[in-house]
Amino acid sequence: MALRRPLLMGNWKMNKTVAETRAFAEALARETSALDASADYAVCPPFTALSLAKVVFPTRVAVGAQNVHEAASGAFTGEIAAAMLKELGVTYVLIGHSERRQYFHETDAACGRKVAAVQAAGMIPVLCVGENEAERDAGETEAVVERQTEAGLAEAAEGSAIVIAYEPVWAIGTGKTPTPADAEAVIAHIRAVVERVKSVDFAASVRILYGGSVKPENIRSFTDQPNIDGALVGGASLQPESFVAMAVAMTGGEVE
Ligand code: 13P
Repeated sequence: MALRRPLLMGNWKMNKTVAETRAFAEALARETSALDASADYAVCPPFTALSLAKVVFPTRVAVGAQNVHEAASGAFTGEIAAAMLKELGVTYVLIGHSERRQYFHETDAACGRKVAAVQAAGMIPVLCVGENEAERDAGETEAVVERQTEAGLAEAAEGSAIVIAYEPVWAIGTGKTPTPADAEAVIAHIRAVVERVKSVDFAASVRILYGGSVKPENIRSFTDQPNIDGALVGGASLQPESFVAMAVAMTGGEVE
C-alpha cells in the first residue's frame, strides 16, 4: 500500500480580504513549528488574495484556489483560467464544491473537464463529491458519490495527481457530521470506484479527505480512519488558532 501523506486543507469560501489574509498569515507564521513535517497543509483563499497568500503564507502551507474555468482562455467574463492560477504559484484547485454545484449549476461533466484543465496546467485538482440530505434519506449516498467520482475522473490524465474530498452537503456548516465509521465506509466506496475506473495502484495512492463541520475536537476521529487521508475544512479554517489546532490534532498531538 502506497504511503499517503495526510492533507489538511482550508476552504475560506467568500471570506477574507487581502488585509485579513495578511493578518492570518502573520499569525500562522508564529506557529509554523506546530505544523508537523509528516503532513501537507493548504489554504484556499478567494481569488483576490491568492497572489498575496503565495508570498506571505509559510512555505509549508500551500495555496489552493476554489474554482477555475475549464477553457484555456477566451470570452468568459468574470472567469479565471488554470494558467492564471498556475502563474500565481497555486498548487491545488477545488473542483465541484457542493456550493458550486448547487448555486452555480456546475454539472458532473463540467467538473470532469475542469479536472483535466487543472492537471494540464500542472496543478492538483481537489474533486469534491457528496450527497445532499434528500439523497442520503433516500439511501442514494453511494450512487451519488459514484456518479460524481466517475464523471470527475472521466477526463483525468493518466498518472496525474488528484485529491478527492467527500463532503456530505448536509454536514457543511451545520455542525452535523456522519459518524467516523459512516464517513470511512463512503470513502472506502469512493476508493473502490477509483480502483475500478483507474487502477489498484492509483486508488491506493490517491488521497481522499473528509469535509463537513470538521473542527479541532473531531478531526482526529475522522483522520484516524484507514481510508481518510485528511480534511477539507470551511469555518474552522478561518482562525489561525483553530487551523493550527487541527494540524496538531491530525498529526497526533494533544489539542489544548
Ligand atoms: P465547514 O467546515 O464550514 O462545514 O465547511 C466544509 C466545506 O464546505 C469545506 O469545503
